[in-house]
Amino acid sequence: MRAPQTSRVHELSLEEAAIYRQLDPARIPQHVAIIMDGNGRWAGKRALKRFLGHQQGAESVQYVVETASRINLPWLTLYAFSLENNLRRPKAEVNFLMKLLKSYLVGNVKRMNDNNVRMAYIGRLTELPAEVQDTMQWASEQTAQNTGTTLTLALNYGARSELVDAMRHTLRDAITESAGDFERLQSLIAEMDEHHVSRRLYTAQMPDPDLVIRTSGEQRISNFLLWQIAYAEIFVTDRLWPDFRGIHLLEAIADFQRRERRYGGLGDGFTDEKMEDNHAGDTAELVRR
Ligand code: FPP
Repeated sequence: MRAPQTSRVHELSLEEAAIYRQLDPARIPQHVAIIMDGNGRWAGKRALKRFLGHQQGAESVQYVVETASRINLPWLTLYAFSLENNLRRPKAEVNFLMKLLKSYLVGNVKRMNDNNVRMAYIGRLTELPAEVQDTMQWASEQTAQNTGTTLTLALNYGARSELVDAMRHTLRDAITESAGDFERLQSLIAEMDEHHVSRRLYTAQMPDPDLVIRTSGEQRISNFLLWQIAYAEIFVTDRLWPDFRGIHLLEAIADFQRRERRYGGLGDGFTDEKMEDNHAGDTAELVRR
């Protein structure tokens, strides 16, 4: 295995470095997930075929991955091909996306290795064409020793199907473990908690995303990581994916760092002690009334 990487921040462009200097390096998110949208519109605006938008989108992927690796972002997950894309897009477009994925992997494995990036995938992968699966497997083997950013491509991915798969997995495990003992099965079901679900998702090995970015202005989640983004911050930009670069990732992280994450609580300023101090006067006032 490669040694953990030393800082590569000096490899950022001057413009990227200017944004990076505004960031708190200790609060770089652990996991950024991106819904890459707008390839078709990018092409349409230029009177080009949609395919060329996807091709340009693949270039953006590489730029963004390399910036992520330079700031040592541990996990980057990209929504590259949804189950719905697979079912609802014309066959010719699906075939093109599959070819593009293959050529992207073949063409970029060396750059992934140069940038210490490890490749991973989530989704119903066995439904992808066999030759694409082979190339995916090859790219993950070629990059398995890398210790920097893990780039996960969500392919033939849908969050609801992921939850269905997790449920099947959980039920199968419980049935096997109870080995015909109905009471044992009942207690296994009663013991189930969120952790049991999380560890049967495709993302079991990853932390939940802290930040979800969506390009092209649409304010939807589109069946992406529904369980995992329960407390993620969401950043929507009007920029179309083929125009998205590393600097825009850094801008999104700067925006993320300006937010206060509360996880359903009240934030750092509200400890029990402070609340008691604040409310003692209020309560006395209410009682007087
Ligand atoms: C959305 O654009 C994007 C996709 C359906 C696929 C994303 C694919 C890429 C970025 C390129 C290939 C990726 C890799 C990893 C090689 P859209 O077609 O929905 O755009 P539109 O909403 O403007 O029509």
